[in-house]
Amino acid sequence: MSSALVLVALVACAALASALSSAPEQIHLAITGNPGERIVSWVTMAQTNASYVQYGNSLAALTQQANSDETAYVTALNGTRTIYLHDALLVGLTVNTRYYYRVGNAVSGWSAVYDFDTKIDVPNTPVDIIVYGDMGSTNSDRTISKLKSELAGGFSSLILHTGDFAYDLHDHDGIVGDEFMNMIQPVAAYVPYMVCVGNHEYDGRNFSQYQNRFAAVGRYSQSGTNNNLYYSFNVNYVHFTIFSSELYYSDDTAVIAEQYAWLQKDLAQAVANRDKQPWIIAVAHRPIYCSNVDDVPDCTKDVLVMRDGPYSLDNLFAQYKVDMFIGAHEHSYELTWPVSHSMYQLFPNPNVYVNPLYTVNIVAGSAGCKEDLDYYDKIYYGPWSNFRSASYGYAHLIAYNHTHLYWAQKLNEGDQGVNELWMIKGNATEVADHAHNFGYAPSPMRSDACEEYCFVACVGNAVRNGQSTQEAHASCGATCNCVDRVAAGQAELIGTDVRVELGRVTRH
Ligand SMILES: *[C@@H]1O[C@H](CO)[C@@H](O)[C@H](O)[C@H]1NC(C)=O
Ligand SMILES: *[C@@H]1O[C@H](CO)[C@@H](O)[C@H](O)[C@H]1NC(C)=O
Ligand SMILES: *[C@@H]1O[C@H](CO)[C@@H](O)[C@H](O)[C@H]1NC(C)=O
Ligand SMILES: *[C@@H]1O[C@H](CO)[C@@H](O)[C@H](O)[C@H]1NC(C)=O
Ligand SMILES: *[C@@H]1O[C@H](CO)[C@@H](O)[C@H](O)[C@H]1NC(C)=O
Repeated sequence: MSSALVLVALVACAALASALSSAPEQIHLAITGNPGERIVSWVTMAQTNASYVQYGNSLAALTQQANSDETAYVTALNGTRTIYLHDALLVGLTVNTRYYYRVGNAVSGWSAVYDFDTKIDVPNTPVDIIVYGDMGSTNSDRTISKLKSELAGGFSSLILHTGDFAYDLHDHDGIVGDEFMNMIQPVAAYVPYMVCVGNHEYDGRNFSQYQNRFAAVGRYSQSGTNNNLYYSFNVNYVHFTIFSSELYYSDDTAVIAEQYAWLQKDLAQAVANRDKQPWIIAVAHRPIYCSNVDDVPDCTKDVLVMRDGPYSLDNLFAQYKVDMFIGAHEHSYELTWPVSHSMYQLFPNPNVYVNPLYTVNIVAGSAGCKEDLDYYDKIYYGPWSNFRSASYGYAHLIAYNHTHLYWAQKLNEGDQGVNELWMIKGNATEVADHAHNFGYAPSPMRSDACEEYCFVACVGNAVRNGQSTQEAHASCGATCNCVDRVAAGQAELIGTDVRVELGRVTRH
């Protein structure tokens, strides 16, 4: 190489290096599950070698300091782009206290000052958690702007994002991931942002973007798994068991077995601690019950792998009496009756489940992403399905105490109110009020799930493949024998259209 070329190369290198900033960005918080601890994470484009969190109880006195790890993470498949991930663990925080903090160092510069509080660390107090899945870097301002309003209104506890980030974290060599993490910073720098892996995190490198960017939730979790594909944490009355549905769709059965063994251990431990955390909530990205008709075979064949396959989640949830399973993946909202292996239980008041026999399943994948919404059929859906809405929104999950758990999903972003669920567990005295207020009596179980749902999926497919709805009904009726139901008045056709959309829907 001529010396002129070397010079050009050096100048180019210097230009590149100076373009890379060591200013902190993508700042977000997490919890470990131990009261009095917070994880602060952020990213710099250049190496800093030594960065810190400075924090304290007033803006003017950030008198405490915690070191951060710095991990070089290669975000581009071809190795040409590296970012620096920083994680710092704060310990010994006083509960029910506001903290102010900034991140960085004196040479690279400091971030703005953010703050958080430790109210959720106070034992035996209600905890209000915002839940959603499938939020991208486009079509998500509808949700992110509302989260900002929630914070402005005093929300300060915890956000749970149940998989599918950015669409996708690895796109454009990870630049989309950086953009997304900066988009959520105005929220995630103030409130712990807890996560679960989804199919969009599949990057051909073992979910490496997800595993690295959110590494700290696994590394510092109480469950000690040291990975964030499956881990667990307690927050007040709730034990969250987070795991990867994606392993069910890989060929590596050894990994599924490993996760399953951990799930058994974690849930057994959670049951042993039920006096402290009465609510056991399992979380993964894909649902095991869903009724969407536009995404076949998601809700017909795919769900069965997790539900009834060799590593059956329904078996596990029944054995450990898991109260609720939250999934997403379908870009819509669905609430089931308590259900196990398609056996389900009905309550006279659809919003009040008292001492349910089975796990309640929820699909909460409607925070907004570039793939828009998924749909339901107005007539045909899983018989275990209580409520469906193909509209954007997110939920509040509030664990009030040992007996009362509340869920409210905003329908059509709140324009159509909320879909509420009260789950109430306790002895006769504890639930008496609610028996009085709402009236309840456990109904007999039914197990006629299969046939109805076969028809839903079949018609959805046939219509998409160009059949008229009448043709679809005829051909699917022969397959599933559901037309007899319509004839018998057990189901209803609205005109000739079986695809009636709920909520405000645009489909491209
Ligand atoms: C960080 O350390 C490396 C290796 O010692 C050094 O080359 C680099 O200049 C340091 N960077 C900063 C910002 O201190
Ligand atoms: C690496 O990939 C990016 C695009 O993804 C491309 O712009 C760049 O030229 C590639 N670099 C090398 C050395 O292949
Ligand atoms: C993928 O990551 C998980 C969790 O960190 C690890 O246990 C597993 O061995 C990895 N798989 C491969 C193929 O590297
Ligand atoms: C539990 O919370 C519910 C809902 O706020 C309330 O109605 C009930 O009285 C509480 N139970 C106890 C024992 O505090
Ligand atoms: C029901 O639970 C309450 C505590 O919440 C307890 O005081 C009461 O003795 C229990 N009643 C019965 C019949 O077990």
